[in-house]
Amino acid sequence: MAFSFHAVMFIASALIFSLLTQSQGDTTSSGSFIHSRAGYYPNSEEIGSETGRCGYGSFGAIINYGDVAAASDLYRDGVGCGACYQVRCTNVKDCSNEGVTVVITDQGSSDRTDFIMSQKAFRKMAQNSYAASSLMSQGIVDIEYRRVSCSYPKYNITIKIDESSDYPYYLAFVIWYQQGQKDITAVQLCETNNFNCKLLDRSYGSVFTTTSPPSGPLSLRMLFSSEDGDEKWVVPVNSIPENWKKGAVYDTGVQVEV
Ligand SMILES: *[C@@H]1O[C@H](CO)[C@@H](O)[C@H](O)[C@H]1NC(C)=O
Repeated sequence: MAFSFHAVMFIASALIFSLLTQSQGDTTSSGSFIHSRAGYYPNSEEIGSETGRCGYGSFGAIINYGDVAAASDLYRDGVGCGACYQVRCTNVKDCSNEGVTVVITDQGSSDRTDFIMSQKAFRKMAQNSYAASSLMSQGIVDIEYRRVSCSYPKYNITIKIDESSDYPYYLAFVIWYQQGQKDITAVQLCETNNFNCKLLDRSYGSVFTTTSPPSGPLSLRMLFSSEDGDEKWVVPVNSIPENWKKGAVYDTGVQVEV
């Protein structure tokens, strides 16, 4: 029975090892890596797309210092917008161990890819600039990825009123600096004075809209949901002012962790 004893010891030590490495290292994700493929935007832009399908506008190109990506299946009808993924390529000769953390700001796919990355992010997966050139010349590379928590320590979740809005009849806005590892699966607007609330429509990506929005100062409510079904309403401290204006940016005053 020496074999099974060794097998048990092996499993036990593997468990201890994984516990040790988890406690020392990355606490932002406990998920395991999934194998896939990734490419990069074909244009000469270092950063991402300014017309990405998440509705962030030019902000979608530069958020997270331009480490952004278009997702295919992970776009999830827009729910995947704003999610962060650690992506690392798997060729040990060229690729670093930590890879890069990208934010989803667009939808797109190439030949069986999960991510089309900004060139800046794509290069970051390499160990050095020589390896980065090698990755670039391959175009599409094998990768592994996992969901991680988005972190913007210097920013609160922020609302940008879309230019398509028409005060007071039609309100559209996009949510910037989504934080943590959960999805925003529902958004409500409430009249701050009486908590008369209205559920908004996800128009596309991270853009939420409503015809005949509630009036007065508006209090936002966002439902954060995790894949395992954990749900939490987040109610920012700051209201959207009564006389909101298209193009305006409003700081919600909250950060969300994990
Ligand atoms: C975030 O909101 C808090 C209030 O909750 C505020 O004190 C802080 O200045 C805000 N941070 C930024 C970067 O705007």
